[in-house]
Amino acid sequence: MPDDRKPIISGNWKMHLTHLEAIQLVQKLSYALTRDDYEAVDVTVHPPFTDLRSVQTVLDADRIPMILGAQHCHWEEKGAYTGEISPVMLAKLNVRYVIAGHSERRELFSETDDWVNKKVKAIIAHEMTPIMCVGETLDEREAERTQAKVEGQVQAGLDGVTAEQVAAMVIAYEPIWAIGTGRTATPDDAQQTCALVRATVARTHGADAAGAVRIQYGGSVKAANAPELMAGPDVDGCLVGGASLDPDEFARIARYRTT
Ligand code: 13P
Repeated sequence: MPDDRKPIISGNWKMHLTHLEAIQLVQKLSYALTRDDYEAVDVTVHPPFTDLRSVQTVLDADRIPMILGAQHCHWEEKGAYTGEISPVMLAKLNVRYVIAGHSERRELFSETDDWVNKKVKAIIAHEMTPIMCVGETLDEREAERTQAKVEGQVQAGLDGVTAEQVAAMVIAYEPIWAIGTGRTATPDDAQQTCALVRATVARTHGADAAGAVRIQYGGSVKAANAPELMAGPDVDGCLVGGASLDPDEFARIARYRTT
């Protein structure tokens, strides 16, 4: 990958860990990572909403250069949306990255491309960075519809977003069949679909945006497979679920370049 695209390794904790457990995890993770690691890669953690304030306090108090992220948000600033969290609330907690359109939200909570697009714009409007997720199901893959699905999601999610804004974003390619299943896309497959995401961005937002946008692979990433996945020239990072709950394993993933 070009030197100007700093690799980004993100831990999506999903619906795991109380705020007390979250504090322990970031502390253990901070012992395992060094200044050199933070210089070489951006490390983001995405705890559940109830843990954000506690994690933020630990990161600030101990000056840990890990970057705080969230897993989801609503696009409105405030209003009668019981149970939802607004981008304003996240920005006030120093959240820098927000996942939008994770496949679990799309599949289990019926999030549409239109919602994902609204969230991407709202996250950017509040000066945070979206990590917009795209990816195909097993059925779609077997029917050779991966390309159409991923292109469609990229195009719809980025509709109305400027080229400069896209350049600063992260897009995560997460094949749904590889999430939490122990099945990982082969490095070639991951590279090929990340390249497809980049080519789609080139078509919709131009070569500069495509050259700058960072693209992650997600789906059963472990310390053992991270180096070969990250070797793909269009793979700029990993979005890690299960393995991010183990501080030593996640630290080894973040240090993929030395393993
Ligand atoms: P796993 O790493 O557990 O497969 O999860 C991937 C994911 O969904 C990250 O957002």
